[in-house]
Amino acid sequence: MLVLGIESSCDETAVAIVENGRNVLASFILSQIDVHRLFGGVVPEIAAREHLKVIHDLTQTALQAANLTIAEMDAIAVTQGPGLIGALLVGVSYAKGLAYAAGKPLVPVDHIYSHIHGALLGLTVDDKELYPCMAAVVSGGHTNLYIMRGPVQFELIAHTIDDACGECFDKVAKVLGLKYPGGPEIERLATTGNADALEMPRMVDQKSRLQFSYSGLKTHMVNLVHREGGQLVGQRLHDACAGFQKEALGQLVRKITSALTLHSDVRSILIAGGVAANQKFRQMMADSVKISTYFPQLKYCSDNAAMIAAMGYHVYQQSEDKRHFSTDFQWDAYSRHNA
Ligand code: KG4
Ligand code: ZN
Repeated sequence: MLVLGIESSCDETAVAIVENGRNVLASFILSQIDVHRLFGGVVPEIAAREHLKVIHDLTQTALQAANLTIAEMDAIAVTQGPGLIGALLVGVSYAKGLAYAAGKPLVPVDHIYSHIHGALLGLTVDDKELYPCMAAVVSGGHTNLYIMRGPVQFELIAHTIDDACGECFDKVAKVLGLKYPGGPEIERLATTGNADALEMPRMVDQKSRLQFSYSGLKTHMVNLVHREGGQLVGQRLHDACAGFQKEALGQLVRKITSALTLHSDVRSILIAGGVAANQKFRQMMADSVKISTYFPQLKYCSDNAAMIAAMGYHVYQQSEDKRHFSTDFQWDAYSRHNA
């Protein structure tokens, strides 16, 4: 089954074509980061306007790259939410028009769940070896842990009670004077730092149970910078990055390990979202966990449409009533995750 995926939830316009939820035939991503950098963050209305400018051409580019036509698609999948509402409406409206004109089913999908399927793109691993699995979405907006009993069955078992992990990387990078997004910058400086040179606070696991928390670690880093005159330089900066990274990622690994003891039937682990790009995180997971762990290829860690097409494939396959995917069916985009 061939699915064309469309993603426009934030500041990346993306279109992809994926076969049977795994095999990527084309994947194109246009980042708007240069436009938004001028304002120090994503400006929702500008994001929507930028999507509108490029979404049609990008769709044509993806079809041409795969040497396919819209008539050859079996379905179109589009991000329904969560995201910036104006940005989402551009993708959803475009996808509706495209599906209507081509007479194709239209599958709305959840962006957060889709990230998880990004970890399986390009793999041939069998569903029987995967499920039940534990899945973590670790991004700038979410730090969520799920138990999945199948490709579209998500049970949320933990989330952050304050900042998201990637958000913490970004905020700490900002006080350290590093550029946005902070995660890759901290990872780069940490490679030549001593992770044990500075003491880092550890949240009390008993009290928080499986939930994540990053505000304490963030406040500690802000206070550290202020105590040292507003700036860390040279080796001290590298050590601070390494120490912070070790604790920020260590929390993820510890919580995932604890969750595994509570869910002993889990057969695999899927890790997704921007923070999944971190090589130290991958190494720490490999050192601590024995069961098969799948991280996305680097190009599928951050927002992309291949993961949307993959999720669309599963939602379509698992649905008993395909009438939900008619373009006449009424549904709305949503700005917040409601699971
Ligand atoms: O999933 P994503 O691209 O966007 C959303 O938040 O939806 O995630 C972006 C987040 C940012 O906070 C960024 O700093 C973080 O992922 N990130 C990283 C790394 N690469 C990106 N964090 C740690 N290490 C990295 N290598
Ligand atoms: Zn995302």
